[in-house]
Order: sequence, then C-alpha cells, then structure tokens
Amino acid sequence: MRKADLFDEIIFRLRESAAHEPTAQIDPDLLQALMSAAPPREEKKIITPAPAPVAPAPETIPLYAPEPPVRKPLAGSLQALAQTVQNCQNCPLCSTRKNVVFGDGNPNAELMFIGEGPGESEDEQGLPFVGRAGELLTRMIGAMGFDRWNDVYIANIVKCRPPGNRNPEEGEARACLSYLDQQIELVKPKVLVLLGAVPLLYLLNMRGIMRLHGNWFEYKGIKTLPTFHPAYLLRNPPMKAEAWKDLQIVMREFGKTPQKRNG
Ligand code: URA
Ligand code: SF4
Repeated sequence: MRKADLFDEIIFRLRESAAHEPTAQIDPDLLQALMSAAPPREEKKIITPAPAPVAPAPETIPLYAPEPPVRKPLAGSLQALAQTVQNCQNCPLCSTRKNVVFGDGNPNAELMFIGEGPGESEDEQGLPFVGRAGELLTRMIGAMGFDRWNDVYIANIVKCRPPGNRNPEEGEARACLSYLDQQIELVKPKVLVLLGAVPLLYLLNMRGIMRLHGNWFEYKGIKTLPTFHPAYLLRNPPMKAEAWKDLQIVMREFGKTPQKRNG
C-alpha cells in the first residue's frame, strides 16, 4: 500500500468512527492491521527463484501492479482448467479479449471473492482485480487480516473483458459459469464473498444488492455473502462504511475480531 493510500484509509476510518455507531469504531488492533497490511517490500518474505539462464523478454509491461504477485503453483486440475479456459470460444467475448482472466490466488483458499469480469487493466495483464477497483479490493482484504496474493482466491463471473466495461450479458455469464463452478469445486472455499449485483444475479439468482448485502446465503452448500463491488465503492465512498460492516461479518466467520471493546 502506498503511504498516501494508507493515510487515506486511516483518515477514512477515523472519520467513520466519529460518524457512526460503536461497531464502526476503529480500534488499535485494526489500525495495527492496516499499518501492517502492506509491509515494505524488504520485509516481505518473497522467495525469488534462481533466474533462468536466459530470461525471456516480457511481452507486455504491466499497466499497474499494486503488489508484486507472489506466484503459487495452481493445484493440478485448477491448472488444467485454466489451460482449457485460455482457448475458450464459448461466447462472443472471446473475439475482443486480449487475455483470458482465469482467476488468481491460493488454490486452497478458505475465502474466495467473486467479481463480475475483467476491466481494461485485467484484460492487459490476465489477472483479476489489478486496476483501481483491484487496488481498493486489495486494501479491503488486507484490512480483513488476509493477504490478497497469498491467502484468498479471486475469480470473476466472466473470464473475458466485456467491451467498454459493460456488465456481462446473460448469455455470456451463462456460457462462462461452468468454469467458475469448477473453480469453486476445486478451491473448496469455506466462504464466498460476492462483489456486487452481477455475481449476486448469476450465482444466487437474486436482484437487490442494496437490500441483500451483508446477509448470508448458500451457494452449493458454501456460505455466501454479497457485498458491494469495489468499483461502486470508488464512485460512492460513503458506502465503504457499509461494505466494511459486511466484511466484518465475514471476519467473524474466520474468528477474526476487528473490534475489541473495553468491558
Ligand atoms: N472488476 C471485476 O469485477 N473484476 C475484475 O477482475 C476487475 C474489476
Ligand atoms: Fe469463454 Fe467465458 Fe471468455 Fe466467454 S467469457 S469466451 S465463455 S472464457
């Protein structure tokens, strides 16, 4: 996390604590978690593999890399699935994509986030949530006490970018959904967090994110909680407080306690 972002976040939380009821108060532990959410690079335990004798030239220069992704090998069949999806032509989005954005993260994650589909940066890099919304999602996950690159798994409803960042159409979402189902089956998370109205519609067949966010549902036997999409939160910053309440519900599921009250 950049220093400026960290201060923004802390100031945002302090404002929140002044403006909201006690559950939204910041506590020293949370502040500590925020401070340590993105340790300086030198503190990070990144095991760099010995360089190959001839390093291949990178084909593209990433537009934006909030954190150096520490690559973990995909579990066998998740990798096989990723390979299949690379060549998918099951819907028209295949003709406009630059890269398939399969998903990313810990293949054994207990917590999985599901977005709608790749945006421009994701399409460029082939990784989910690496643009501005991704930067916020990374901070949200950090504030929950998880590392975005190592602890959780992140995937989308559609794996190819809808042109102009429009929402995926129903036919596209339905064409792509079996991949997501297989990812969920392979990762076997304990909890799914749905980011916004699109995954709410296509996984739970429900509309009304404003009404339904922060409530538990079940998808294929997995506890599932919808919250707001980070891109929506960027456009509506006051709603971050609501999203944070939702994420605290998820934290409790993992025995993480963001708030400690005296007495
Ligand atoms: N928005 C999404 O829903 N998914 C991404 O991967 C990036 C932005
Ligand atoms: Fe295939 Fe999904 Fe891409 Fe459509 S969006 S081409 S179904 S991978």
